[in-house]
Amino acid sequence: MTRFVWEPTLATGQPEIDEQHRGIFALADELAEAIDSGHATEEIVADCVWRLTDYVIQHFADEEQLMEDARFPERAVHRSLHEHLTAETLRIAARFFNGEDLQPATLAPFLAGWLRDHILTEDLRLAEHLASRSRSE
Ligand SMILES: [Fe+2]
Repeated sequence: MTRFVWEPTLATGQPEIDEQHRGIFALADELAEAIDSGHATEEIVADCVWRLTDYVIQHFADEEQLMEDARFPERAVHRSLHEHLTAETLRIAARFFNGEDLQPATLAPFLAGWLRDHILTEDLRLAEHLASRSRSE
């Protein structure tokens, strides 16, 4: 499966957001590695899925708090994108916990897509807003 490696081109310049993004990449990569290895036990894969899901939900909550605090004008749209991504993440996790084999073909495009697209578009816009606010303070 695609490996998930955070790259400096994904930096938003907001340390708190970037650190959490690196954390998401690390957990996604751990999951990819567990699936790829072919001999990870179901508990190991389950543990990876739990930790990734949990971290993603916490990350969105933290970002939403930042948006509120900074009165980010696009926060309603950004929040609804988070809701969509959370629902997708939970749907995939639920399939796994219902006994479906977690297929790399399901997981890789989803993770790669949202990680890159969301970071490089919405999160970057939020980071620019935060940076311009701190410059004008
Ligand atoms: Fe976001």
